[in-house]
Amino acid sequence: MAIDILPLHPVFVGEVSGIDITRPIGRDAVAAIEAGMDRYAVLVFRDQDLTDAQQVAFTRHFGELESYKTPGHIRKNADARTGPGIADFSNLDRGGGIISAEDRVWFFKLGDRLWHSDSSFRPVPAKYSLLSGRVLPSWGANTEFADMRAAHDALDERTKAEVEPLVCLHSLIYSREAIGFTELSDDEIAAFQPVRQRLVRTHPVTGRKSLFLAAHAGAIEGWTIPEARMFLRDLTEFATQREFVYSHQWRLNDLVMWDNRQTMHRARRFDDRNEVRDVRRTTLAGDVVTIEQPEFAS
Ligand SMILES: [Fe+2]
Repeated sequence: MAIDILPLHPVFVGEVSGIDITRPIGRDAVAAIEAGMDRYAVLVFRDQDLTDAQQVAFTRHFGELESYKTPGHIRKNADARTGPGIADFSNLDRGGGIISAEDRVWFFKLGDRLWHSDSSFRPVPAKYSLLSGRVLPSWGANTEFADMRAAHDALDERTKAEVEPLVCLHSLIYSREAIGFTELSDDEIAAFQPVRQRLVRTHPVTGRKSLFLAAHAGAIEGWTIPEARMFLRDLTEFATQREFVYSHQWRLNDLVMWDNRQTMHRARRFDDRNEVRDVRRTTLAGDVVTIEQPEFAS
């Protein structure tokens, strides 16, 4: 059976059929998926009953896993449930019960409900993220994606010229501050010092430009903080208007793979006090410092 990719949305997002990703896949399949990612930026695979090890193995077909040390007390409890290379995005604690609403690990997780691009607060931000739906609640918990290429294309010419040279500062501290979570330890503040990222990125294969936005962006070099925050808020509002957004309603054993260089995403609410959501992420390391990204021939 050949791999087939059909659009799920008018501007991006494809659904992949004809492949079982619980097993090793061949070079042709890897190339087809990479081409699909370049075109659609988000791919949905249905009915993939993955173990942690299988999810890691599938991810490694596309490059190296991202690996950073996170300050121990932030995620240690939650990560203890999953295998190596897998990040736990559930609402469960180490013992498998629903995490306390007052646990600071939960505060960190809640920040993912703001529009963001994974690891934009790292010096080299992530390339792809892959999220697998293992246990799903009966209501809510969609993941929404926004196409940052379409958003860039739709900017008026004046704004397009204005954003082109800008460099933003990203930190996990900015996005957590935005939801009122400001009680960070010295270790956490040290671990999440702001990093520089270009506001406009160019895709290395297609040459398409995209807005590299995230709730983690909290400053623009050369601008005052209030001016920068207001401009970033305006851009984010523009970039996440409904025509650029796909809302993924999870089915059991979906795997959704997205390109963090070309999209933003956010988690949506569910009954996190009474229902379990167990979703697990692998993350593919990026390969470029955005402020040094090679300009695509233009
Ligand atoms: Fe995320």
